[in-house]
Amino acid sequence: VKTQSDVFYRPTIHFSPVTGFMNDPNGLIFDGTYYHLYYQYDPFAPYAGRVHWGHATSTDLLHWQDQPIAIPETRDGEAYSGCTVLDAKNASGLFDAGQGGMAAIYTRASPHRQAQYLAISRDNGQSFTEYAHNPILDIGSNSFRDPQVMFHKPTNQWVMVVAKSRLHQIAFYASIDLIHWVHLSDFGPSGLFGVDYECPNLIEMALEGGGTRWVLFVSVNPGGPTGGSITQYFVGQFDGTRFVPDDTVIGLTDFAKDAYAMQVYGNMPRDEAVSIAWLGNWQYCQELPTQSWRGIMTLPRTMTLRRDFAGWIRLAQNPRGLEALRGPAIPFAARRLAAGSSAQVALPPGTALDLSLSVTVDERPHDLPLGDKGRTGRFVIVFGNEQGESLTIGFDAFSGQLWLDRNNLRGFAQPFFTGQFSTVLNPDDRHFDIHIVLDACTLEIFANGGLSVGTALIFPAGPLDFLRLEASGAGATIDALALYPLQKVMQR
Ligand code: FRU
Repeated sequence: VKTQSDVFYRPTIHFSPVTGFMNDPNGLIFDGTYYHLYYQYDPFAPYAGRVHWGHATSTDLLHWQDQPIAIPETRDGEAYSGCTVLDAKNASGLFDAGQGGMAAIYTRASPHRQAQYLAISRDNGQSFTEYAHNPILDIGSNSFRDPQVMFHKPTNQWVMVVAKSRLHQIAFYASIDLIHWVHLSDFGPSGLFGVDYECPNLIEMALEGGGTRWVLFVSVNPGGPTGGSITQYFVGQFDGTRFVPDDTVIGLTDFAKDAYAMQVYGNMPRDEAVSIAWLGNWQYCQELPTQSWRGIMTLPRTMTLRRDFAGWIRLAQNPRGLEALRGPAIPFAARRLAAGSSAQVALPPGTALDLSLSVTVDERPHDLPLGDKGRTGRFVIVFGNEQGESLTIGFDAFSGQLWLDRNNLRGFAQPFFTGQFSTVLNPDDRHFDIHIVLDACTLEIFANGGLSVGTALIFPAGPLDFLRLEASGAGATIDALALYPLQKVMQR
């Protein structure tokens, strides 16, 4: 049965399944024409249960075409997370002579065993045939999952990263045929406490200003500092055998709590680093207020590495290709806000929104007593409605920090569905820039050029129909403001 919430909370520009339950993105690959998105999918119910690989394809990572289930659950178990690769030269020998094709490497999971399986596709990723002698990698564990495989050119071999989940270790294996795997090394235990390490991804990424680093992403669930599911990353070097981090610092991909199991695209032209994560959290994903479907993917994100104010190399993420979805700008002529004043604009109903802002908050007025209004000046972005609901994103210019508050929305409550998150932008900087995408029950915030990213499910009971900008404690100058509706475009 489709309820009103099923329609109201359905994003318009984010991928979500028509029915059933979706979690991790899997097998992200560009085949030269199409981007493939496979995903953890229970087609039978809006709960995590009998996991298959769902499938969708796109030519731009924004408009998706649903495809038939690619890998079903079998008697060997559910089809857990994994990857695809292009075996163009038939290294596996599983394709017909002179042919190559797509191969999937993933975990078959039963309560007693998690082992890695191989399947090949002769129809460009539409359907897969399991290799006859699976599993290809089995260490007799029930906590060994989520392989990612890539071709490591310098050593001319396939490299697999896979999680020994409860041990908090990431194991590295090598193969020349995708079938026989040799253990190379283990990374960790290292990183956050928590219960299970999942969905490791290794990618060489450009460092802005020159050079590259290898980045190892590892999802942790539960036990993230914001509660439940979180993705951490390590920056370092990979020589084909061993991942060595540059230091002992851990980064998190998100300052909120709804971006998990992040995966990167394989086979991208010019080695562009592009990721998609599941826009959800295991703490409440099976109780969200929709009935016939659950699960959303984040927007595709372009990733680079950048040095922050302290010289640390950090991940920067920004939405990819959104410009193409922008409708005519929504006029909003706010340029200067005096302390205590605000400016407001009505929002068109039912459309996704794209807001970019660049703001400088005035120096604190000298006649204020110390401590007044946080000793400073705050700039607040409010998405609200006449029913008194509000979603706020605020900048505190004194501390250089940003908050996100989804508490004052009334469409969903659950003890773990906590509402307030914050991040540091730059210390001693009264300027900030931010890019916000609001789409039905999703909010994605890209601040400070993408160094601070916040991904949050949001459940207003009614439409958020105005946007208000508020300056408190000090005035503010809006250096740039652009507000657009985002729509899918009809495709030929
Ligand atoms: C991560 C995860 C993976 C597993 C899959 C099962 O969210 O728990 O470790 O492969 O989901 O659906």
